[in-house]
Amino acid sequence: MLNGLAAHAHAVYPGSFDPPTSGHLDVIARAAAVFPLVTVAVVVNPQKRSPFFTLDEREEMLRRCTAEYPNVKVSHFRGLLADFVRKLKADVIVKGLRVVSDFESEMAFAHMNRSLSGVDTMFLMSDSSYSFVSSSLIKEVFLQGGDISKYVPPVVLHQMETKRPAQGRK
Ligand code: PNS
Repeated sequence: MLNGLAAHAHAVYPGSFDPPTSGHLDVIARAAAVFPLVTVAVVVNPQKRSPFFTLDEREEMLRRCTAEYPNVKVSHFRGLLADFVRKLKADVIVKGLRVVSDFESEMAFAHMNRSLSGVDTMFLMSDSSYSFVSSSLIKEVFLQGGDISKYVPPVVLHQMETKRPAQGRK
């Protein structure tokens, strides 16, 4: 239960961040303005056998992209988010919402995470200009040679360019 003011809360913002997008960064900036400590937590998902970026690369990009926020830390977790937030003694989970349809699945996650950990989820709306931006769409457009520079931070764009030969450009 999130008792008292957000001014004292430690928030965890989880995700795959493969890659981090400008939409993710928008949510991080909003969370950093509300909470004194925000942990951006990259999930280690053994089901996803060939992620575009390694865990280290994702963490490094996120660290560089969030360097301007002294209250933002970057970490990772395996297994359940509920266990991770309990281990950190975090007060709240932050999730971003882009469109109304995001809410349907996020509501179930929020209930499950609260049931498992007692930790509430708070939703922040990303800027409407990112409402259609997702990591999977960014990867698809990039791999087909499209311009993604409006949708990812420069650090991420640069890192993606280094992947282009290995991923095979058509
Ligand atoms: O960026 P994504 O892929 O949308 O993030 C999804 C994420 C990491 C938040 C979600 O898959 C997650 O919480 N994974 C950890 C495993 C877990 O706790 N599953 C139960 C969710 S109620």
